[in-house]
Amino acid sequence: MDVQMFWRDQWYAAAWGSEIVDKPVARMVCNEAIVLFRRTNGEVAALADYCPHRLLPLSEGHQEGDLLVCRYHGVRIDHEGICRYAPRTKKVGPKFRANTYTVVERYELIWVWIGNPDNVDESGVPAFPWLSDSRWTGRGGMFEINCDFRLLVDNLMDLTHEAAVHSNSIGQPELLDAPFDTEVNGDDVRIKRHMFGVPQPAFQSTYIQRELKTDGPIDRLQDIRFVKPTNVTIDACFAVPGTGADQGDRSRAITFMVLNIITPSTPTRTMYFWNIVRDFLIEDEEVSEVLQAGINVVFAEDVEVLEAQQRAIEHAPEKRMRMLGIDTGASCVRSVIERGVGATN
Ligand code: FES
Ligand SMILES: [Fe+2]
Repeated sequence: MDVQMFWRDQWYAAAWGSEIVDKPVARMVCNEAIVLFRRTNGEVAALADYCPHRLLPLSEGHQEGDLLVCRYHGVRIDHEGICRYAPRTKKVGPKFRANTYTVVERYELIWVWIGNPDNVDESGVPAFPWLSDSRWTGRGGMFEINCDFRLLVDNLMDLTHEAAVHSNSIGQPELLDAPFDTEVNGDDVRIKRHMFGVPQPAFQSTYIQRELKTDGPIDRLQDIRFVKPTNVTIDACFAVPGTGADQGDRSRAITFMVLNIITPSTPTRTMYFWNIVRDFLIEDEEVSEVLQAGINVVFAEDVEVLEAQQRAIEHAPEKRMRMLGIDTGASCVRSVIERGVGATN
């Protein structure tokens, strides 16, 4: 796959909804510079981030009511990209406007359509229903990582790395050789890794002990799914051994949904929106805070690895990766993405 190309005619997350309040926000999505702003009716608009006059990013300016005001000479642009005021000019030409993007605010995220506007399909917004479901709670965050987004997708499709990268928190050595199943169905790729009667990992043990009343071995289930075009969900379940969690009975289990919303900014820069929502202690704000802080530290370990990996790749672009038995999921996902890129470019 040509690293300059992305899977088009897809929705990509550009921001958490809570980030877009009363100021323009600049985001690079699949190499397209976009400015987001919230109108007074609450809807979010997205424009190409160039002033039609001298191309200063509109995000450098400010918002006045429903208009963006360019910082340079004060041109005012509305949510449809139309110029509503230009100095010393009665009427601007039809090309004096900013291009627009279709936006959907769903699951607490702002999604923009990258591709042909004639093909917009709202049913294709990647499904992250846990983010707007009161039975789940959690606090997330966002990292901007200096790496090819595919390195992050590889990382999440293969959680073996938890044993090494996160050995003091969410990892455990049992992950290294645990068998897993890979299912591929069209664009869906799913990895199931079920470990029975393993020790409790350090990071989750507080909650396992508190909720499941055991400090002994547990069943640890990981169900990883690729969500096209570039996202990953992980159903991470910890259960009292032999209580049927692997068959769907979660009555003696706690579950974390690890939600990884990944947006390529450029070929070497990635936005990583994340949240880990849980189905227990959902009223407890302190638990949310502690988990958020803890996961920030854990994911920062991934960021370090990914950025070092990216630097090595850029330094020696002729080198090729060589696959191991742990890479099935990541390899399948790379093929799906490559197919999507090929079909839409
Ligand atoms: S560059 Fe925006 S008004 Fe001149
Ligand atoms: Fe990780």
